[in-house]
Amino acid sequence: MSAPRGQFSSNVGFLMAAAGSAVGLGNIWGFPTKAASNGGAAFVVIYLLLAFVLAYPALMAELTIGRHARRNMVQALREISTGPVSRFFANLTGFGGILIASLILSFYAIVAGWMVAHLAEPFATLIGASSTADWLTSSSTARNMTFTAIFSGLTMLIIASGVEKGIERWSTLLMPSLIILLLLLIMYVLTQPGAIIGLQVYLMPDFSQVSPELLLSAMGQAFFSLSLGVGTMLIYGSYLSQQESLPRLGVLVTLIDVGIAFTAGLLILPAMYVAQEAGTQIFADDGSLIAGPGLILQVLPALFDSMGTIGLVVALAFFALMTIASLTSSISMLEVPVAFSIENLKLPRRSATLLVGLIIFAISSVIIFNFDALFGLVISISTEYGQPLLGVSLCIFAGWIWRRDQLLQELRKGHENIEQTLFWKIWPWYVRVVCPLLILAAFVQTLL
Ligand code: PHE
Repeated sequence: MSAPRGQFSSNVGFLMAAAGSAVGLGNIWGFPTKAASNGGAAFVVIYLLLAFVLAYPALMAELTIGRHARRNMVQALREISTGPVSRFFANLTGFGGILIASLILSFYAIVAGWMVAHLAEPFATLIGASSTADWLTSSSTARNMTFTAIFSGLTMLIIASGVEKGIERWSTLLMPSLIILLLLLIMYVLTQPGAIIGLQVYLMPDFSQVSPELLLSAMGQAFFSLSLGVGTMLIYGSYLSQQESLPRLGVLVTLIDVGIAFTAGLLILPAMYVAQEAGTQIFADDGSLIAGPGLILQVLPALFDSMGTIGLVVALAFFALMTIASLTSSISMLEVPVAFSIENLKLPRRSATLLVGLIIFAISSVIIFNFDALFGLVISISTEYGQPLLGVSLCIFAGWIWRRDQLLQELRKGHENIEQTLFWKIWPWYVRVVCPLLILAAFVQTLL
């Protein structure tokens, strides 16, 4: 027998952890800016639709496989395989998931490091260390290395403490703080001049912008935001007790994820227009809204600067929010390779965390030293290609390879009368046919 596995102590613990994984930079940064540059509320509506008709079913595939197998991604997929071909496919998908989760973490830790550096800046300013404050907020290899190391170290500390004492405890502590910070910031920003224009840009639908590219961008966003494809949700599902209803928890995670993405839009868009009112440029030369790193690292800091002393507090709250959001996501990424190393390579959790964490930090370092060539490339390989392809594969495992009776049996656990639900009538064939086709169709579009 292998060593006893960790388990979440309650459904709330699981919910906080899974929602913590889902809610991240993708929600607070990616979603609002994509909405702003793609038809405002039109994008929001399409995103909501895709989150429920595409991402939620795929999320359910991961959670169900994970809870059934109670193993890491590689092992779980091997266990539900039925022959040599599907076993080969299981290895490909399982190791693919571990690789892509690690690549996502390698760039995510760099971006999160920027958030930590900006979080430290108000303190430096307060004690009058202005050259330190400048160093913290200007891009340099030394700064990036330092703060990626700090953020990766924090992620490793939490993961080294295990499922209940690390992931669950920290997610349960950090997620409510995130929501409180977000709401406080929204209340403050909405009272500032210019905020209402931002709200209008965000909430007025412009359906003329709906196009295949928009659908694709919304799908990619939904996949990234729900942490799909790379086995994070699979591994969190594997730590979930059999007394809980999977479809219900899955809906809650999806609702929290889209709810926070939507709410973050109520902060970011108004804040941009408040910044414009205060004299900061928010449109790039080609007339598009500044959405990339410039938004978070220049536009918003310029706004905070213009606010005087209160700006220090607002900056602190904002970058604390970003750091928390990043941390509850990064731990879920690191858990994927760590769980594999514990279960398949038989390493103790601490050594596994140290080993895997250092390897991923080494990848981050290579990216930092070759930033222009690698940063965008790694993001594109992992999120535009890796995640959707792995998502299709996981739907195929749930829909075609895994024995039907076992899948249905797993869904029944923790959910009485599930046979009477709409979920039961639709999902099992939906995940088999509709999901893979939809994802593939969207994917082929990207290639064209
Ligand atoms: N969902 C996270 C976010 O929105 C990113 C993530 C992707 C986390 C893949 C885990 C796995 O920022």
